[in-house]
Amino acid sequence: MDEFQGIESRHIAEDELRGQLDLESLPQHIAIIMDGNGRWAAQRSLPRIAGHKEGLRALQDVLDIGYELNIPYLTIYAFSQENWNRPETEIRLLMGLLEQYLTQERQRFHERHVRFLPIGRLEQLPSPVHTLVTEVAEETCHYTTRTLAVALSYGGRAEIIDAVQQLALEVQMGSLSPDQINEDRFEQHLTTWGLPDPDLLIRTSGETRISNFLPWQIAYTELYFTRTLWPDFRRCETLLALLDYQKRERRFGRVTQGVPS
Ligand code: IPE
Ligand code: IPE
Ligand code: MG
Repeated sequence: MDEFQGIESRHIAEDELRGQLDLESLPQHIAIIMDGNGRWAAQRSLPRIAGHKEGLRALQDVLDIGYELNIPYLTIYAFSQENWNRPETEIRLLMGLLEQYLTQERQRFHERHVRFLPIGRLEQLPSPVHTLVTEVAEETCHYTTRTLAVALSYGGRAEIIDAVQQLALEVQMGSLSPDQINEDRFEQHLTTWGLPDPDLLIRTSGETRISNFLPWQIAYTELYFTRTLWPDFRRCETLLALLDYQKRERRFGRVTQGVPS
C-alpha cells in the first residue's frame, strides 16, 4: 500500500468510527494515564525523550478530538510524585518539554477557550516551570466551557492527606465539627474541586494499574486499558476508547434495567 492509500484508509476508518459514536452519550470527563513513551522510544532505539516528544503529538490528537466532540473535561497525568525518582536528566528534559509545550499551546488555550488547571504539588516544580504553569492557569481561569486539568507532581494519596489536614485545621479552629465532614465537604479540599468525577479513565501501554492517579475521584469511573503505547494513541484509538465506553452499562450499584424484581 502506498503512503497516500494509507492516509486514505485511515480517514475512512476514522469516519466510520465517528459515525458509530452516539453523540448524546459521550463521557463528560475523561482522565488519561499517558504511559509507554519510554518503551515506544526503546523499540526504535531512540532516547526516552524522543518518546515523550512523540507523546505530545498524541496528546494533541486526543485534545483535538475532545474539542471537536465538545467533551468539557479532560484530566491528564503528566508527571507523578513518584516520577521524581527518575534519573535527574530525564526529569530535566521532561520539565523542559513541559515548558516548551505550555509556551506553544498558550495561544491555543485562548483560541479554544480552554481553562488550563494544573493539579498536584506544584510548588515542587522548578521555579521557571512553576511560574509559567501558574501564569497560564491564571490567564485562562475565566473560561468555563472546557477544562484541561494537568496532573503535575501529582499523587492521589498526597492530595487526600492535604485535604484531611485542611479539614483537621478547620475542626481545630472551631469552624467545623467532625459530624459535618461528609463527601461533599471533603471534595471541596481536593484539587479537582468543581470538576465532575471522570466517566472514563484510559491507560495506555498495557499496564493495568492506577499508579496513584485520582484514587478518590475514580470510585465509579469506567476503566479502559489498551496495549497501545501512548505515542501511538492517536485519533482512531481515541474513538475506539469512546466506542468501548458507550458499550458499558453504568449501574452505580443499582439493578440492571429490565431485570424482573
Ligand atoms: C509516560 O511514559 C510518561 C511519564 C511518566 C512522564 P513513561 O516514561 O512512563 O514510559 P514507559 O512506561 O517507561 O514506557
Ligand atoms: C504513571 O506512569 C505516571 C504518568 C503517566 C505521568 P508511570 O510509568 O510513572 O507509572 P508506573 O511506574 O508504571 O506505575
Ligand atoms: Mg511508564
